[in-house]
Parts: sequence; C-alpha cells; structure tokens
Amino acid sequence: MRRILVTGGAGFIGSNFVRYQLERYPDVHIVVFDKLTYAGNRANLVDLDSSRYTFVLGDIADRPALETALDGCDALVNFAADTHVDRSIMGASEFIATNVTGVYTIAECVRALGIPRAVLVSTDEVYGSIDAGAFRETDPVAPRNPYAASKASGDLMALAHHATFGTPLIITRGSNTYGPYQHPEKVLPLFVTNALEGKPLPLYRGGEHNVRDWLHVRDHGAAIDCVLRKGTPGEIYNIAAGNERENLELTRKILELTGKDESLIQPVPDRPGHDRRYAVDASKLRSLGWVPEVPWDDGIAATVAWYCEHETWWRPLKSGEFVEYYRRQYRVQP
Ligand code: NAD
Ligand code: DAU
Repeated sequence: MRRILVTGGAGFIGSNFVRYQLERYPDVHIVVFDKLTYAGNRANLVDLDSSRYTFVLGDIADRPALETALDGCDALVNFAADTHVDRSIMGASEFIATNVTGVYTIAECVRALGIPRAVLVSTDEVYGSIDAGAFRETDPVAPRNPYAASKASGDLMALAHHATFGTPLIITRGSNTYGPYQHPEKVLPLFVTNALEGKPLPLYRGGEHNVRDWLHVRDHGAAIDCVLRKGTPGEIYNIAAGNERENLELTRKILELTGKDESLIQPVPDRPGHDRRYAVDASKLRSLGWVPEVPWDDGIAATVAWYCEHETWWRPLKSGEFVEYYRRQYRVQP
C-alpha cells in the first residue's frame, strides 16, 4: 500500500497509528483527514516527518470533501468518531452524526471510488457488558450507552453495505486503549494529570465494581495494520490483550507511579448505565498472526512517565471547553 487515508488521524489511536505506519513502511504516504473536534489535535502529529503525510481538515459526513481526499488512495482506515461515553450521556447528536452518518458516508465513498479495502475501527463496547467469559465476533451487539449504540449502528450499516453492495469494509472491535496522546477526559490520562496536579481522582462507585481490559495503543495499531493487510472484507475482528484490571487497581497503580497517596481518591456518583465489564475473545485476530507485545507493567510505567514529561501537551487540553465539561460532569472545577 502506497497511500492510505486515515480519518480521525489527529486523535489518540489514529495519530499513534500514523506514527506506526511511517515507522514500519518507508514508502507509505498517509493522508490524515480530520475535523479537529475538541479531541483532535495537530500537536499529536508534530514529531512526524511532514514530507510523509498530508493533513486535510474535513468531516467524514461531508461526502464531496471525503471523496476528494480519498481519490488516489489504496485504502482507508477510519478512527474518526465521538468517543467519550460520559459526553454521549449528556447528548448524543454529534455521536450519531459522526459514528453513524459519517460511517455510512465512508461506505458510500469507498464504493463509489472502488477503494480496494477500508478498515472501520470500532469498539468492544458494542457487545455490552459481560460478567464472565468473552464475546466472540458472532455474538449479537447489545450496546448499553449512547456512544456504544452509535458505534454498533455504524457497524451494522457497514456490514449491511458489504452484504448489499460487496463494499470491502472490515470492522475491528478493540478494548480499552492506553498510551501517549490520549485526551485527558479519559480515565487514565485524567487520573495521571489530576494526580500530578494534586487534584482528586473522581472514581465512579469506588472503582471496585468495574473492570476494563487494557491494550497498549501500539498493540492496537499493530492489530489494525494486521487486519488492514490480512483481514477479509465483511468480517469483524476483536482486539484485546487479556489484561483485565479493576478500576481501583488501575487507580492505585497510577498513584504509585506518580508518587501520590490514596487520599486523592474521591468516590463520586456512578456513571448512569455503567457497564461492569467488557471482554472480547481475540483468537480470530491471533490466527492472522497478531500478538500483543507490550507487557502491562512496562506499558503503564512508560505511559505515566510520558504524561509526566509532556505537561506542555496536556495542560492546554484541560482549559477552555474542558473546564465547563468538567464542572458539568463532576460538579467541581478541574
Ligand atoms: P479520539 O476521541 O482521541 O479521536 C477522535 C478523532 O476523530 C479526533 O481527531 C477528532 O477530531 C476526529 N473526528 C471526530 N469527528 C470527526 C468527523 N466527523 N470527521 C472527521 N474527524 C472527526 O478517539 P480515539 O480514542 O483515538 O478512538 C479512535 C477510534 O477507536 C474510535 O472509533 C473509537 O470508537 C475506537 N476505540 C477507542 C478505544 C479507546 O480506548 N480509546 C478503544 C476501542 C475503540
Ligand atoms: O472499551 C473501549 C472503550 O473504552 C472505547 O470504545 C471508548 O471510546 C473509550 O472511551 C473507553 O470507554 P470507557 O467508558 O471504558 O473509558 P473511560 O476512560 O471513560 O472509563 C474507563 C473506566 O473508568 C470506566 O469503568 C469508567 C471509569 N471512570 C471514568 C472516568 C472518566 C471513572 O471511574 N472516573 C472517571 O472520571
């Protein structure tokens, strides 16, 4: 592949994926197509060789703009989405516009231009919560929050597009991802940066009830790359490393690595409809040759160290619009 359109490439996983592509494939050129919502950030790409990628400001729901950017590309990988569950509970119209209409627009453009393959990055949240065991790709979707419902809707539209028109779309469903360049609204960078600021860590329901399966962003990007090159159109691939942690355990690890004590933990009212546990079986992807490579102890230590060393990156993101969001969500100043 010589030219790949990466939609949402200025966000967390998208920018790390662009970095991975440029490091791994010396001949590839990436076109980053991004609307630069509050979650998109040109600073996520500043360390990259600017001759190897092109940035286009645009909305995936804008068909003419997307077609223009996609023309001449061999493939598309979509990371563009509204992604934060708590914001979707406050209001989901943007989530529907991007995660459903935007995905439909991508499918239409891929079909119209005859693009050979497109990977649509989705989430393990579409299956809903599971108390024991892990979901397979053949299990039905049962989303339980507006964000997850919008992602499941996009997935269903893509699968229907493939079934109806043969559009070469592939879906990935990854688990909770961590690493550098994640917006500080998400639990891990929020807790690390709050700890560094000596501010409380707002832990829903004390953190003993909920479990997430943590995947390093480099492993997530490698998995998407594997699916892009070896996956079968019309198929779904789960992505997970099998690294389950209770939220309280994650919080204690962050406090240990930032040198803070547990007095910073602040139990706060629960997220409405809070899914207890996500778990997916990634054996289908492993059969394509993917294996996660970043051990948890190394990954979390390096990630916390990255936020410690990059205050100039995260500090501006905790100002402006974020202050209002934080006050509304947690009823306190950030
Ligand atoms: P993010 O919120 O960090 O970034 C999203 C990016 O999409 C931003 O750059 C934003 O500007 C851009 N964007 C939003 N709406 C757009 C639009 N209409 N047109 C063009 N660009 C638009 O997201 P992320 O955490 O990197 O997630 C990327 C993808 O991975 C999403 O599809 C998400 O559902 C999925 N996912 C995320 C995780 C996770 O833990 N973060 C886990 C599994 C799957
Ligand atoms: O599972 C994949 C999903 O992971 C992705 O599809 C989403 O885009 C991504 O945001 C993430 O969703 P979660 O809801 O799991 O992530 P979040 O960081 O919001 O929360 C992780 C856990 O931490 C969850 O159990 C809620 C809890 N939490 C979160 C925040 C923001 C708290 O206890 N306090 C908080 O302030």
